Amino acid sequence: MADALSWAAIFMAIGAGAVIYFFLGSFLFGAGYEPTGRARVGALLELAEIGPTDTVYELGAGTGAIAMRAAEERGARVVAVEIDPLRAGILALRRLRSPARRRITVRRENLFRTDLTGATVVTTFLWPSAMTRLSPRLERELAPGSRVVSHYHPLIGWIPDAVDREHRIYLYRIPERTGRPAPAQSG
Ligand SMILES: C[S@@+](CC[C@H](N)C(=O)[O-])C[C@H]1O[C@@H](n2cnc3c(N)ncnc32)[C@H](O)[C@@H]1O
Repeated sequence: MADALSWAAIFMAIGAGAVIYFFLGSFLFGAGYEPTGRARVGALLELAEIGPTDTVYELGAGTGAIAMRAAEERGARVVAVEIDPLRAGILALRRLRSPARRRITVRRENLFRTDLTGATVVTTFLWPSAMTRLSPRLERELAPGSRVVSHYHPLIGWIPDAVDREHRIYLYRIPERTGRPAPAQSG
């Protein structure tokens, strides 16, 4: 009886550890796990007008809430970048089962280092600190006209092109670069 109880305690501890890791482990990298709900994904795809000519990068893709629907419902090419091995594994399995699998690439990578070549849309649902860290790269590396769509947190210092307040979705467009040097900083 005592043996059975201690085994049960061990299994419960492992289970609780796994759940805590799944949702909170990646806080270390930039955000914990919380999937974007179905209605919000629909609103995001709509606001960003994602379509077959787009290449969508979902940075911190989780289990692919946005990525799968962008590919399956909108015909976009998708690059889903996720650092957590378990969620990246689930994404890879979902990709294999998807009729749109040829348009979906899964990268188990750090989003702060991933190559953004070809992105026409970047989607994020990350902590504000991670967004602030990411934003200089987005400004520098995305082509003018590319869209950045953030769920829940706005990009500090950026002016949104459109906002869906009900679903807390912020759409930004990378402006044309003037080619002029940045004004000199005083002081
Ligand atoms: C709030 S969840 C959003 C998941 C998904 N984008 C969605 O909207 O349903 C944030 C995800 O970002 C991932 N993440 C956090 N830091 C990361 C990093 N540095 N590189 C790649 N993925 C990261 C987490 O593992 C988590 O799955």
